[in-house]
Amino acid sequence: MKFLGKPRSQTAVSLPICLLIWNILQPGHSHLYSNRYAGDKVIRVTPSTKEEVYVLKKISHQLKVDLWQPSSISYVSKGTVTDVHIPQNGSRALLDFLQEANIPYKILIEDLQKALEKGSSLQAQRNRRSLSEYNYEVYHSLEEIQNWMHNLNNTHSGLIHMFPIGKSYEGRSLFILKLGRRSRAYKRAVWMDCGIHAREWIGPAFCQWFVKEALLTYRSDPIMRKMMNHLYFYIMPVFNVDGYHFSWTSDRFWRKTRSRNSRFRCRGVDANRNWRVKWCAEGASMHPCDDTYCGPFPESEPEVKAVANFLRKHKKHIRAYLSFHAYAQMLLYPYSYKYATIPNFSCVESAAYKAVNALRSVYGVRYRYGPASSTLYVSSGSSMDWAYKNGIPYTFAFELRDTGHFGFLLPEALIKPTCTETMLAVKNITVHLLKKCP
Ligand SMILES: *[C@@H]1O[C@H](CO)[C@@H](O)[C@H](O)[C@H]1NC(C)=O
Ligand SMILES: *[C@@H]1O[C@H](CO)[C@@H](O)[C@H](O)[C@H]1NC(C)=O
Ligand SMILES: *[C@@H]1O[C@H](CO)[C@@H](O)[C@H](O)[C@H]1NC(C)=O
Ligand SMILES: *[C@@H]1O[C@H](CO)[C@@H](O)[C@H](O)[C@H]1NC(C)=O
Ligand SMILES: [Zn+2]
Repeated sequence: MKFLGKPRSQTAVSLPICLLIWNILQPGHSHLYSNRYAGDKVIRVTPSTKEEVYVLKKISHQLKVDLWQPSSISYVSKGTVTDVHIPQNGSRALLDFLQEANIPYKILIEDLQKALEKGSSLQAQRNRRSLSEYNYEVYHSLEEIQNWMHNLNNTHSGLIHMFPIGKSYEGRSLFILKLGRRSRAYKRAVWMDCGIHAREWIGPAFCQWFVKEALLTYRSDPIMRKMMNHLYFYIMPVFNVDGYHFSWTSDRFWRKTRSRNSRFRCRGVDANRNWRVKWCAEGASMHPCDDTYCGPFPESEPEVKAVANFLRKHKKHIRAYLSFHAYAQMLLYPYSYKYATIPNFSCVESAAYKAVNALRSVYGVRYRYGPASSTLYVSSGSSMDWAYKNGIPYTFAFELRDTGHFGFLLPEALIKPTCTETMLAVKNITVHLLKKCP
């Protein structure tokens, strides 16, 4: 549809970038991310005894591996499926070690640099030069996403309003889209955020997809029309803007924010462990170099503080909080920080059950669902628990595709199927909200 197309000026602006990328991709020129992942591997280990757990933890610390799943080595116990990104210079040693210790492992990705360059977004971006329409089937940089938001704000003012809710640590604006038919009548709202964790690129791609679908189908699809008429959607396509930018420019597998620490050289806080709900207890780390670092105090990260302030201010009419992560194929609800059942469990549980069924009806992809603590792992200080504790009755976290075959490098060809099926789940949850739960 024409109204979603890219205006001429923007195409012109992105041309030099495309040419630059074209040059990068030419053989003989430098590689993506300065070739830093050449020879790195991602392996899957499932330790089956206490001794194997001990050994795995010990060498993980020694080799400074980057854990893909679960998000911290402290979560690893007997039977934990553990996906580990090992640096090239340590991979021989680690694999030999595992073999000698008779610990079975499986190689998920043989050469991470090659995997990254193969399905690379940059490859697809080159082709975008000739496209007049905005391409929702590639990953977009932060700058592109923000240009897209400005563009929609200018061309769809009846349905979309874009505004900032604060600034990131590095001074970038934290933009929100408010989506829905303007009405003087009281309307309930749904909050959606994507990209709390920088390397989970499918998240922001889904937030963009959701907005696109709303704009394209609200006239023809009665469910979408109902959603736009009766609700507002507050959508934050990129929560962790600094981290996301960094994952494009320097480290594809960066997870945290980019804030500095006064005593350590390591940067960043896990923006999903920084909320004032059982802050920095089980499933969070006090060490600034860990990927699940909870930060020096709750809401220390300006991104978390800005969103918490916004939700506090609007919590009376926000009925649902949805957060998009990857990867695991799960639909999670509270609690995350403890093993316990939430009050009114059956309403939330039935919403989740229907949503994963709706999702599966498209391509047969199965999602597990349940309380985050027992379905994934215990983590304290998460946004979902915080939103729930602050009175938002329906709070969910999606862990999108896949289950480890591509992991964080989900190819762009899978954006469309992933978003198509997820869309059904989100619509299903939203329609559930509009009904009174029995
Ligand atoms: C591997 O290389 C990194 C940096 O390139 C270095 O910090 C680390 O000590 C090396 N590890 C081994 C086991 O040589
Ligand atoms: C979005 O558009 C409105 C006018 O419709 C304008 O007032 C507002 O400043 C715009 N938002 C941003 C972030 O530019
Ligand atoms: C549970 O449901 C009851 C009745 O619908 C409602 O009054 C109460 O606020 C709900 N509690 C929570 C935590 O959502
Ligand atoms: C929600 O999903 C269930 C199946 O899980 C289906 O029966 C129902 O029609 C769906 N509702 C909407 C509005 O999509
Ligand atoms: Zn995540």
